[in-house]
Amino acid sequence: MSEFQVRNNELSELEVQTLIAAAIAARDKAYAPYSEFKVGAALLCSDGRVFSGCNVENAAYGAGICAERGAAMQAVAEGAQEFSAIAVAGWKDGRAEQDRGLAYPCGICRQFLNEFSAGHMKVYVARSITDYEKNDLSTLLLHGFGPKNLEV
Ligand code: THU
Repeated sequence: MSEFQVRNNELSELEVQTLIAAAIAARDKAYAPYSEFKVGAALLCSDGRVFSGCNVENAAYGAGICAERGAAMQAVAEGAQEFSAIAVAGWKDGRAEQDRGLAYPCGICRQFLNEFSAGHMKVYVARSITDYEKNDLSTLLLHGFGPKNLEV
């Protein structure tokens, strides 16, 4: 039984906080020895399942991958292809809550998520469980290119 009830991709405050908590837990697993910027993401799918990811860097710097795409890969590999919301938490260790920036998804991750976005997919970018900004993916990726474009 999922602890999330996905209705039109609108979440209760408790559900948002639960999703952010999962992102913060995923952040602890980040492998970011080069940038020291640790990111965690928790992706809620329309079937109620949550998949998490963290950034994984590499000695060949360009081979690293973001937390958001890590979570998306987990979801698709488990058969979940419709995304309702994602929470992202990114900052360097030791930053007090008020000194943390907001780690908005990079352009590649916005495009990657758009592929599987259920209409009005939400993006929560958090400094903590209670301090976050809520966005629509369609606002972050205005006029995004998606599967429908290939139909015409
Ligand atoms: N990063 C993410 O994982 N997600 C974002 O939204 C922005 C950036 C990672 C990539 C790299 O490992 C580190 O943060 C610094 O750019």
